[in-house]
Amino acid sequence: MDISLQGRAALITGGSDGLGKGMAIRFAASGADVAILARDPDKLEAARADIADAGSGKVAMLSCDLLDAAATNAAFADAEEALGKIDILVNNAGTSRAGPFEDITDDEWAEDLELKLMAAIRLCRAALPGMKSRQWGRIINVLNIGAKAPRPVGAPTAVSRAAGLALTKVLAGDGAPHNVLVNALMVGLIKSGQWERAHENSGSNDSYDVFVQNMSDDRGIPLGRIGETEEFSNIACFLASDQAGYITGTSINVDGGASPVV
Ligand SMILES: NC(=O)c1ccc[n+]([C@@H]2O[C@H](COP(=O)([O-])OP(=O)(O)OC[C@H]3O[C@@H](n4cnc5c(N)ncnc54)[C@H](OP(=O)(O)O)[C@@H]3O)[C@@H](O)[C@H]2O)c1
Repeated sequence: MDISLQGRAALITGGSDGLGKGMAIRFAASGADVAILARDPDKLEAARADIADAGSGKVAMLSCDLLDAAATNAAFADAEEALGKIDILVNNAGTSRAGPFEDITDDEWAEDLELKLMAAIRLCRAALPGMKSRQWGRIINVLNIGAKAPRPVGAPTAVSRAAGLALTKVLAGDGAPHNVLVNALMVGLIKSGQWERAHENSGSNDSYDVFVQNMSDDRGIPLGRIGETEEFSNIACFLASDQAGYITGTSINVDGGASPVV
């Protein structure tokens, strides 16, 4: 299937690294104009160059901390101005914070919900009017398989992600009469910047490939390996395209079979 995003404009949060950067490259290669949002301007600049190499459309950068509501709203307005419109919104920025329940403070709960839920809510609220008026839109919420199958040490992220799943369903119903389709991608373990940093910080003499293979073995992933970034961005690109025009209000596990539930 030839997937084209020609003429579309996408905003991808967390687009400077990992899965977000992978999606930005894939979308650009498929013809989209792309805006990437993250905090670190140097990482944004490095990603911008790779994304520009992948396609011939516009690439905009937004340095913004999604924990700041006013900055988030301003960044959306800047993205819209830079690209002329936002047809595709990917709420991807996040961290994989999780630990023993009794150790998690109120501040840590609040920060996790702010970054993973409230930032997505604010960006959806900003994006929907334009999508509805043009009768075309795609929102993709990047979540975690723990949203449906939380582990005992899955908080706070599994709780924030479960709320993201409910948000996905609410917005799918809201957007459907306007051809705005809203879906979630449930990540298991996929190669990304966060695992490269974890490998660097581990002090291990193992190569990155051995490090991530050990992670996969520890989790017992049925396909026997961690996912490739491109395997994730391919499915995101499909959901962002016209070809996915009859899919809304659902979630897809991208996890090599790791989730115990569909
Ligand atoms: N990869 C996996 O195996 C996996 C597993 C489960 C869930 N996920 C989820 O998938 C998404 C992408 O993960 P990833 O593995 O690609 O992570 P990553 O490599 O660490 O990239 C995270 C991106 O988010 C940005 N970001 C983080 N905090 C931000 C903030 N407060 N404001 C704005 N931008 C922020 C980062 O840039 P700056 O640091 O410069 O802001 C970076 O661009 C996340 O939501 C993550 O929780 C991934």
